[in-house]
Amino acid sequence: MASSLPSLPHVPGTDPSSCILDAFRTAIARRLSDRLPQLTIEQAYSGVDYGKKGVDFTVALPRFRLPGKPDELAKRVLEDFQPDDFVASITHDRQFVHFQLNSTSLIRQVLDQIHTLTYDSPSGKPSYGTNTTGAGRKLVIEYSSPNIAKSFHVGHLRSTIIGSFLANLYRTCGWEVVSMNYLGDWGTQFGMIASGFEKYGSKEELSKDPIKHLYDVYVKVSKDADSDPNVKAEAARIFKRMEDGDESVLANWREWRELSISKYIEEYDRLNVSFDRYTGESEVGKEWMEKAIQRLDQLGLISDANGAKLVDLDQWKLGKAVLRKADGTSIYLTRDIAGAIERWEKYQFDKMIYVVSSQQDLHLAQFFQILKLMDFPWANRLEHVNYGLVLGMSTRKGTAVFLDQIIKEASSVMHEQMKRNEEKYNSIQDPEYVSQEVGITGIKIQDMAAKRINNYTFNWDRMLSFEGDTGPYLQYAHVRLTSMERKNPELLPLPLPSQIDTSLLAESGHARDIAILLGSYPDVVKTALKTHEPSGVVTFAFRLAHAISSAWETLVVKGEQDLDKARARLWLYVCARDVLGAAMRLLSIRPLERM
Ligand code: ARG
Repeated sequence: MASSLPSLPHVPGTDPSSCILDAFRTAIARRLSDRLPQLTIEQAYSGVDYGKKGVDFTVALPRFRLPGKPDELAKRVLEDFQPDDFVASITHDRQFVHFQLNSTSLIRQVLDQIHTLTYDSPSGKPSYGTNTTGAGRKLVIEYSSPNIAKSFHVGHLRSTIIGSFLANLYRTCGWEVVSMNYLGDWGTQFGMIASGFEKYGSKEELSKDPIKHLYDVYVKVSKDADSDPNVKAEAARIFKRMEDGDESVLANWREWRELSISKYIEEYDRLNVSFDRYTGESEVGKEWMEKAIQRLDQLGLISDANGAKLVDLDQWKLGKAVLRKADGTSIYLTRDIAGAIERWEKYQFDKMIYVVSSQQDLHLAQFFQILKLMDFPWANRLEHVNYGLVLGMSTRKGTAVFLDQIIKEASSVMHEQMKRNEEKYNSIQDPEYVSQEVGITGIKIQDMAAKRINNYTFNWDRMLSFEGDTGPYLQYAHVRLTSMERKNPELLPLPLPSQIDTSLLAESGHARDIAILLGSYPDVVKTALKTHEPSGVVTFAFRLAHAISSAWETLVVKGEQDLDKARARLWLYVCARDVLGAAMRLLSIRPLERM
């Protein structure tokens, strides 16, 4: 019953072996270029868009700027149309030509492809939705990048969530990816902590919870500094010693850093986030900082302000910025300039992405501009992926300052939520784990649901509800799909795809709706790569979850007398689960099998 499609011309840039809808679009494009011979098949292809309101594909003829009335052109496309394996019908509405695909072959082809690329993929790993457009190219991507001894605020959380999505996305598109966490592990605040540690530090507290303890020490010395100017001066002196490589201060600092990183690794792990490298501001060498200042000096852009070095970027509407303090110590901006150069020398990337809050737009624009002024040909390979603010994130006890507080709060709010349904709660095997995973999913989905640049307000109740487009709803949809196999053991193992009669699905509009959505997943991935927006993937996941939830009543498996029908339906759900799972994993979410 498996069928292969009739052969088609190849359109450059398309790959039906990873995205079967490319074949259907090619068939549409061929029809267009046959009927409107001024159009090449490639030109025609570029005009084939997804349709609206139940229409599979639509072509807006005016975009081709062909001579003649659009209405007449449309008629030529429609004339003598015979349905085939690709297209079932063509209609037109003034200048728009609408194409409906052949439902039977659409469903067959989409499910076959998902199955093959999930269970029989040439790479040995599930690969439906992936592509190889990035093959041979290297991405360096930096995200999360919290400051040791300061709070891990929502800005860092957003960078973590969006950044890990992007790292997954580039890998999915065939790029070699080096992900890094660029810690704020250098700067005067470490002088502050060093001076405060003598007074407020405790080895024991430090080993128990390094992140929290260093933060506490920092808060205390900062308070002292408010009333006593000597504290800051002392801190600056200690930092100067660190910059000069004084081992007696560096030894402590190194321990603080190591302990903080181990703690962070645990927490990132709970978030399903990882990094290939932990680096930090401390690792940036002096050499390039000096060279940068020299080069900018030659260009006449450096001025001296009481011993500090100032760069003037007014011509580029980027203001003035300090590059070196009067005591010779480096600052954030200079470290970023030199850090980028070192990364180039090490990785020779094709692209480098910084996932940093839009509050630092100016900072990133400044250092990108400085690299351009330094004439680095790779300077235009840097990209800032920014995002808006999150308002009002606090736990019930007060403002959250640490990542583990956020994770704990999500788990406990979720746990309470689940307890409200006692019967269901009692059937959950590991409620602690489930509530943590679902809670984290809630945070991630809320964070990625809208365009990055939008601000949003943190709302525990809304994000952790099972109603509406929330993380818990998505997990629930995945769990329900997964349970289909468990609940229908008599249908297992499913026969080979070629033995499953998918034509039995074609009678239902629901199966077709699901199939075309599933077929669009490879396009969703490609679009996300262009826009760097996770929201498109989130929207896709919800559209799929909704299409499935409207199908439950009609596409019944349990109790269906016709076993061939029941098997075909079950297979549809299994494919839907695999694609929904892939989309969730792309979003760095661990899809649950039970809850
Ligand atoms: N640690 C910085 C902060 O918390 C963010 C670092 C962003 N990355 C960079 N290369 N500047 O504000």
